[in-house]
Amino acid sequence: MHSLLQVSTSGTPLLVLNSAEYTHWLAKQTSTVNNWLTQSGFNGEGLSLIPSSTGALNQAVFVVKDASHYFACGDLIKQLPVGQYLLEAAEEYQQAICFSWLVGAYQYSAYKTDQKEKALPSLAVSKQVLVDNAIKYAEATTLVRDLINTPAADMMPVDLGNTAQNLVDTFGGELSQIIGNDLLKKNYPTIHAVGRASINQPRLIDFQWGDNKHPKVTLVGKGVCFDSGGLDLKPAAGMRNMKKDMGGSAHVLGLARLIMSHNLPVNLRVLIPAVENAVSNNAMRPGDVITTRKGLTVEIDNTDAEGRLVLCDALAEANNDKPDLVIDFATLTGAMRVALGTELPGFFSTSDAVAQGITEAGNKINDPVWRMPLYSPYNDLFKSTLADMTNCSAGPFGGAITAALYLQRFVDPDIDWVHFDVMAFNVRALSGRPLGGEAFGIRAVFDYLQVRYN
Ligand code: BES
Ligand code: ZN
Ligand code: ZN
Repeated sequence: MHSLLQVSTSGTPLLVLNSAEYTHWLAKQTSTVNNWLTQSGFNGEGLSLIPSSTGALNQAVFVVKDASHYFACGDLIKQLPVGQYLLEAAEEYQQAICFSWLVGAYQYSAYKTDQKEKALPSLAVSKQVLVDNAIKYAEATTLVRDLINTPAADMMPVDLGNTAQNLVDTFGGELSQIIGNDLLKKNYPTIHAVGRASINQPRLIDFQWGDNKHPKVTLVGKGVCFDSGGLDLKPAAGMRNMKKDMGGSAHVLGLARLIMSHNLPVNLRVLIPAVENAVSNNAMRPGDVITTRKGLTVEIDNTDAEGRLVLCDALAEANNDKPDLVIDFATLTGAMRVALGTELPGFFSTSDAVAQGITEAGNKINDPVWRMPLYSPYNDLFKSTLADMTNCSAGPFGGAITAALYLQRFVDPDIDWVHFDVMAFNVRALSGRPLGGEAFGIRAVFDYLQVRYN
């Protein structure tokens, strides 16, 4: 990543302009340049490679509607010929350009036998801070994408644990894990119940970073490494992409990376209940009742609503050290995709101020998020005749809301809480955003945290 972007004053000029700036620029060009643009059919949108009189590449011009959009230049690094380019763009676009330049280089090729690295161009900019920030954001995004794209067979609870350990090795902090039957001994019954049917033992990954005099922020991520649905087995189409069901934990690890690499003055705790929702003779059954860590009893109505089960014990634990803020990320419901589509993550919050802060931060840096309501009358929808509650509502409507309401019961009411229900996957390719694993909302949340705690 470091060779793709650096501080330097040499390179072929790369002009990034919006349409108005382009018109202005064009008026000042020589007739040769004007002729080239006309003759090559350039219509004032996208990339044009402009030659010198000898046919060498003299400058590259990239025109976009909104050059401040964080992904506007997401395809440039793959479109330009190899070489070094010197960025010429308005100051206010430069951070976004550097970020999208780097994420645009992303390609998941770990399982391709042809491992020849394709040479890529590099970008020269004027300030080190542009380089440093772009690398931090791009590395966090890359981490999230890589974790989600890795096949489930190679991204099981043990692998999520190793990833968390790597972060701690890099940035400091302390990590502990509760594995297998120890989850029962230490009172995490729902994490154990969901994960016990898999040969890959369930675990709770728990790490702390930062100064304990700083405000405590706890992140919780759904780490269902593969969601077969359990005994309520998913149909093939629904199961196909369920390696991504640890996407919440990937988001939390990416967000933790942003927090730690920026040295944000918080006392960070990360909790990841990591399991495989598998089918076996010891799998939890529809109709079973589990006493959760908090003491509430849950009747399993559907073994495919497992995310809220693993999260509820982790959230109950999160209360223990009275954090200032609890944020969870989860690929929790198909219903959220129905409500908002695949590219806009929905989130819930018990605090209007936090919700507004995150929304505004997201709009500023093109990481849009949409607040959903914790509509309390829907609590009636998961009443159980047998236990305190069921794990999913009876009807087909409002599934993202009822899942969030289920989680809310496990968070102490005096703690600010945010719950993200994310897709974690691009189902169509966009500029700088290839098909497959994707981070949604972590830049929005991080920028909000920077405002809140800096
Ligand atoms: N992991 C899924 C949710 C999901 C599905 C997220 C597709 C993203 C894309 C979750 O565990 C699940 O299966 N939820 C069920 C809940 C239902 C049984 C109440 C769902 O959404 O259908
Ligand atoms: Zn499920
Ligand atoms: Zn799931």
